[in-house]
Amino acid sequence: MYTFKDFYHNTVELSFEKHPFSPNPKHVWVICKYKDQWLLTDHQRRGYEFPGGKVEEGESPEQAAVREVLEETGGSVSSINYLGQYRVTGKDKIIIKNIYFANIGELLTQQHYFETNGPVLFKDFPPSIKKDRRFSFIMRDEVFSHSLSYLNSIVKDA
Ligand code: GTP
Repeated sequence: MYTFKDFYHNTVELSFEKHPFSPNPKHVWVICKYKDQWLLTDHQRRGYEFPGGKVEEGESPEQAAVREVLEETGGSVSSINYLGQYRVTGKDKIIIKNIYFANIGELLTQQHYFETNGPVLFKDFPPSIKKDRRFSFIMRDEVFSHSLSYLNSIVKDA
């Protein structure tokens, strides 16, 4: 379990165990790979981030993850796996988010991309993403760095 403060000084608890905070979280975040590139979305307010959002009524978190990726990037998910979960404790609200890793089979052009400007592809991330204001605050705390390290460790072991 990792505990740290985010960009807004909210406390974040992160774990790569199975559903440590809730079996039914209401938020999802999806680390996406399309061919040999990372697939992000350009959120109109927050900037570059991996796609994600809220689980809708009647949806499972995994279904929400697949839908959000398509809505925000046009990416059609070919495989998806649960990676971990985090809890953000703010002043008025607690949110719990599942982290997934998804492979994208196709990138389909969409009519609109909801609250985003659509897909952005990165071969590599800039080294100083924490200070890079083009990126969303959700990409600039330790959730991102720990998730990538964890992903590397399980892919190497596979
Ligand atoms: P919208 O995003 O416009 O729907 O507003 P909202 O206030 O309903 O947002 P939401 O319920 O998604 O999140 C509430 C608060 O939780 C945000 O204002 C953030 O401070 C925080 N939050 C949401 N997602 C993340 C995240 O991935 N990382 C961190 N550190 N904080 C998050």
